[in-house]
Amino acid sequence: MEIVVSGIRPTGNLHLGNYFGALKNFVQMQEQNNCYFFIADYHSLTTHPKSENLHENVKNVLVQYLAAGLDPEKSTLYVQSDVPEIPELYLLLNMIAYLGELERCTSFKDKVRKHSNNVNAGLLTYPTLMAVDILIHRAAKVPVGKDQQQHLEMTRDFAARFNRLYNVDYFPLPTAFNFGEELVKIPGLDGSGKMGKSEGNAIYLTEDPASIRKKVMKALTDSGPTEPNSEKPEVIQNLFTMLSVVSSLDTYQFFDDAYNNCSIRYGDLKKQLAEDIIAFTAPFREKAAELLKDEQYISRAARLGAEKARASAAQTIKNAREIIGIKHL
Ligand code: TYM
Repeated sequence: MEIVVSGIRPTGNLHLGNYFGALKNFVQMQEQNNCYFFIADYHSLTTHPKSENLHENVKNVLVQYLAAGLDPEKSTLYVQSDVPEIPELYLLLNMIAYLGELERCTSFKDKVRKHSNNVNAGLLTYPTLMAVDILIHRAAKVPVGKDQQQHLEMTRDFAARFNRLYNVDYFPLPTAFNFGEELVKIPGLDGSGKMGKSEGNAIYLTEDPASIRKKVMKALTDSGPTEPNSEKPEVIQNLFTMLSVVSSLDTYQFFDDAYNNCSIRYGDLKKQLAEDIIAFTAPFREKAAELLKDEQYISRAARLGAEKARASAAQTIKNAREIIGIKHL
């Protein structure tokens, strides 16, 4: 049984990118692994230090984990800030994380460009905290989307450095995991690359049908292919990528053939895509609304998760202190 860890920042509701990049795999992994899935609320403070909705968002993400089929008995579902051992390991690991490598991290450089008025130390050490999330349970596999690849490389660097420095073989070197397939990147439908909350192009799992239709119908397209079997430009490929995850194979094939023989009508494709997204998200939307009413179940799940996560984390902290040579007088 392998140890698996992954998390999602509670900066809002979960979107289709979160689902297909991460959550879908969480659900599949919980059957055969020792899984720790958490809500990365400390991470969200790096960009949203004053989030008025933080508590609400944490609760919503937990509900959405449960609505997607995560089982608090099978997996350990917890909130990052419920585990005080995490900040302790974060402090210890920061001692062996170098300024240069943290500054070179793509997501840090990106944030500096976009939010030059809030380049805080938490943002710089985001990759150390993420490494801690994984190493605190000594996980081997981390189901994430493609955008997290570099963070995983850094996690391996930190783990290897710790092992080398203290001459131990304590931390495993974890890898990003997607059942043997390439890591996923779900595109936005506005031609801006990745679907994301901060990109402002997300379609949420709990979004209502009218709003989904509106967003999909607004998706960018072009004037259509003029040569049979031509390569799809990025905005069109993005629509097909969405079809490939939410629609049937037949539907995908129908529009792919239409594209290849230049008879495609993008309006029809978008209508079909919107309906398929609505059908795909409907059970999730209903389940989340139902669960949200059950405060007791939510807090019981969070308490159980915190207990299990702390037991595992405490063991790692005990070992890490011993390895480093921290002792009580
Ligand atoms: P976050 O909160 O941005 O996203 C959560 C998960 O969703 C995936 N994801 C996507 N996958 C494919 N296509 C997309 N458009 C897309 N958008 C988001 C992300 O890859 C991620 O798996 N740093 C992490 C949170 C984190 C974490 C961890 C993850 C903190 N500690 C430890 C794993 C292990 C983040 O910001 O993800």
